Amino acid sequence: MHDIVLIPGDGIGPEITKSVTTIFDEAGADINWIEHIAGLTAQEELGNPLPDETIEAIEKHRIALKGPLTTPVGAGFRSVNVAMRKKFALYSNIRPAKTLPHIHSRFEDVDLVMFRENTEGLYIGKEQWVEEDSHAESIAVVTRDASEKVVRAAFEYAKNKGRDKVTLVHKANILKYTCGLFMEVGEEIAKDYPDIEYEDLIVDNMAMQMVMRPEQFDVIVTTNLFGDILSDLASGLVGGLGLTGAANIGDDAAMFEAVHGSAPDIAGQNKANPIAFLLSGLMLLDHIDENKLADRIRQAVYYTLEDKSVCTPDIGGSGTTETFTEAVCNNLQ
Ligand code: NAI
Ligand code: MG
Repeated sequence: MHDIVLIPGDGIGPEITKSVTTIFDEAGADINWIEHIAGLTAQEELGNPLPDETIEAIEKHRIALKGPLTTPVGAGFRSVNVAMRKKFALYSNIRPAKTLPHIHSRFEDVDLVMFRENTEGLYIGKEQWVEEDSHAESIAVVTRDASEKVVRAAFEYAKNKGRDKVTLVHKANILKYTCGLFMEVGEEIAKDYPDIEYEDLIVDNMAMQMVMRPEQFDVIVTTNLFGDILSDLASGLVGGLGLTGAANIGDDAAMFEAVHGSAPDIAGQNKANPIAFLLSGLMLLDHIDENKLADRIRQAVYYTLEDKSVCTPDIGGSGTTETFTEAVCNNLQ
């Protein structure tokens, strides 16, 4: 029995969480979910968006499946997602984007995996007013240590999964020290992997290349902000945010979540696509060596995608979160 912390999250979080736990139960996953709250839900219930009990549970069990958490724009509490990634040193945010069967998108064979540095860059939250309401500053931090960890993780992943190429994305022409350091680390580590092709690209060019010819990319590694933006772009290449899962991995903890957020525009309407969160759950199963079970559920999802009457509207379906969940359960074999 695996003890795994479950944070249902905000907005569509509870709906997609129910879908995943239902499918995992039906598939016979040997998991004991330890449920805790965080985000807006926790702020409203306990006056704290990141309660101690939630942190302690993750510290104890070291693995979590986390629904999306709302972060207020502008004023209000800072991102709990960012805080947790930092707190548990989850330095690699791994975001695969792969063309799925029966999904309409502009491209046919996208299969890329983005490694986003997850603990520093422009997301450290060091912001201040130089002059209230007229002049603000934000500091970006890049360290050799964190850069090495994520770049090495990307190369190790490429090596272990038999992938051919690693592309490092930066803006070292303008951000000469921060991105310059990240790029220098990439060049050094690439030397340890002579069998893997290595290239670096400037982020604006990368954005264009991804939209024009995404098939050319394999494993991508980049800093926090660029990775955040480009991973949503990558989701768009394969049919949208409803289809891409993610893993936040550190040396002694791992947290799995979808790339998307809490989607308040469709929350509570039984419209949310549970696939992204489900694929995150399958990354979790792979992580705990339940690969066979993960494959079985994955096949059931792929099979279910053919029947648009049960799929959610974001992927051209006329079904609901619940009809999709039920169909996947029926298609498990
Ligand atoms: P979002 O990812 O929640 O939604 C963007 C668009 O994609 C919306 O139109 C939404 O309806 C759609 N969408 C997202 N997931 C979907 C799904 N599973 N099925 C169908 N459609 C889906 O991004 P947005 O609106 O910018 O952010 C909303 C909140 O989520 C914010 O408070 C933000 O801070 C938070 N957020 C949290 C993340 C996390 O917990 N890791 C990641 C990104 C945003
Ligand atoms: Mg994002």
